[in-house]
Amino acid sequence: MEPPEPPPLVLLVCTNRRFGWDRPSCAGRGARKLLKALRAEAAARALPITITEAPCQGRCSRGPVVRLPDGEVRSIPKVVPDAIAHLLLGF
Ligand code: FES
Repeated sequence: MEPPEPPPLVLLVCTNRRFGWDRPSCAGRGARKLLKALRAEAAARALPITITEAPCQGRCSRGPVVRLPDGEVRSIPKVVPDAIAHLLLGF
C-alpha cells in the first residue's frame, strides 16, 4: 500500500475591498499586485502551490495579507521580489 499523498499547498491572498475612505482593505492596499507577483514567481519556479484569491481574513488595516498553508495570516505590505521568493520557497 502506498503512503497517502500530502495535502495540496494552497496560499490564499485576500483581495477583499471595503468601500469607504476610512475602511482600509487589502484591495485598496495593493492585493492585486501582490497576487500577480506571487503567481508569477510560483510559475517561474514551477512550485507545486496553488495561489488563489480569498475573502477578508480579518486583518484589513494590515493588508494585503496572505493565509499560509499552515493557517498563519501574514501581512505583506510591499511587493519586494526577494521577499516574495523567500515566502514561497518556505514550503
Ligand atoms: S480586507 Fe483583507 S483582511 Fe480584510
